[in-house]
Amino acid sequence: MNDALIKIAYLVASVLFIVGLKGLTHPRTAVRGNRLGAMGMFLAIVVTLVDQNVLTYQWIVAGIAIGTIVGAVLAIRIQMTAMPELVALFNGFGGVASALVAGGELVKGVPSGVPAIQFTIAAGLSGLIGAVTLTGSLMAFGKLRGDIGDAKYPGEQLVKLLVAAACVFCIVMIVMDPTNIMFYWYLMIAASILGILAVIGIGGADMPVVVSLLNSYSGIAAAATGFVISNIVLIVAGSLVGASGIILTMIMCKAMNRSLRNVLFGTWGDDVAGGGVVAGADEIYAGKVKQTSADELAMMLDGIQSMMIVPGYGLAVAQAQHTVRELADLLKSRGVDVKYAIHPVAGRMPGHMNVLLAEADVPYDDLLEMDTANPMFPQTDVALVLGANDVVNPMAREDPTSPIAGMPILDCDKARTVIIVKRSLSPGFAGIPNPLFALDNSLMFFGDAKQNMIDLVAALKEN
Ligand code: TAP
Repeated sequence: MNDALIKIAYLVASVLFIVGLKGLTHPRTAVRGNRLGAMGMFLAIVVTLVDQNVLTYQWIVAGIAIGTIVGAVLAIRIQMTAMPELVALFNGFGGVASALVAGGELVKGVPSGVPAIQFTIAAGLSGLIGAVTLTGSLMAFGKLRGDIGDAKYPGEQLVKLLVAAACVFCIVMIVMDPTNIMFYWYLMIAASILGILAVIGIGGADMPVVVSLLNSYSGIAAAATGFVISNIVLIVAGSLVGASGIILTMIMCKAMNRSLRNVLFGTWGDDVAGGGVVAGADEIYAGKVKQTSADELAMMLDGIQSMMIVPGYGLAVAQAQHTVRELADLLKSRGVDVKYAIHPVAGRMPGHMNVLLAEADVPYDDLLEMDTANPMFPQTDVALVLGANDVVNPMAREDPTSPIAGMPILDCDKARTVIIVKRSLSPGFAGIPNPLFALDNSLMFFGDAKQNMIDLVAALKEN
């Protein structure tokens, strides 16, 4: 295929990636953005396959067939709440794919016309980052599933430093003599150990941030491999994934009021995650928590003018998105102004709530970001908190000693009445009590979010 034509096709694919990524920044344009990105990837794949620089087609077809089957089975079977685990696996596979391609090219030798130093450094970086991404992601996968616990060990930082130094040594050896392939495989081994060591000490509660960071690493590994095989579209796509992964990581850290350094080397996740003993819960809740029922709420909702729905992780667990929309539609038909307040880290992964609500055809215009929703709470008749906990915990605002101090929250406690739907007084992700449940204007509607919404809709219709 004509070289210029290939370059033009790659350029078009790159533009499609960038425009597609821009589309993903808003729910209204997200579907189109996704399609544009997919078109770009389709074009890049077709051009790469038509280009002569591929191995035999049999291998490619076999690889595509196996990958499609594994991917389809995983995607169909995975629960919406387990999505971060799947993303972790995909990142790991992406990382190791880049590392293996770079290793394969190194075995073939430095191609003519490419500076050896560019080729070897890029191959070394791809091996390092790709292998770290693979084992780091597998650790994150195991931690998210609860199969792997946290392991702190003496001299943790020093051990990591030594293994990192071993990786750098291997890369130097590869740069000095690209024919010494053994050092590439030593590098893969050392980097794989580094990936395990880097993630094993981080609390399970911080895994979504780690997954986002590893996503960025997988992009950087791909970009490095792009330099190895002199493939422009791989460099562009890898850089986009690398940059967007870093941006997403920073957004998540900001929304939790944590620094990336604190996530990677701190202990917040260890201290607070996983439920366990909830210190201070008794004093906060004793005698102050008021319970309500579907019938009582149906009467109360009869006269209201505005409602702000606050979705959280429990909404995803209960798969209550469709019944919530039904409730909203019913209330709207009775003249109530219904909106949804979306916290940036509600749920377990970025955009979790937006995806769920979009699945139930909730109009995008009804979704309000935290900064828009917060000033509206004092004028809101009812805040309906559905399976959310940490993201509405006033302790973050009021108690500087709280583990979530400074984390921006949705100020739903400022609404005239707050209805909280959850199954018990158990803590959320951060493992701490929530004084919201004991406020004078709060009512607990205990139960599964979906069942409670079904009951409430039925009671409203009867009313
Ligand atoms: P959480 O604080 O985890 O609270 C979820 C609540 O849902 C739980 O208290 C649970 O209470 C309730 N729940 C579970 N199953 C339910 C069901 N079937 N029906 C009704 N309620 C149910 O969730 P959140 O408020 O969305 O906060 C998210 C947390 O995840 C934050 O701490 C955030 O920092 C963290 N995090 C999020 C992300 C991203 S990007 N989203 C990334 C990293 C960390 P019961 O057991 O009593 O029902």
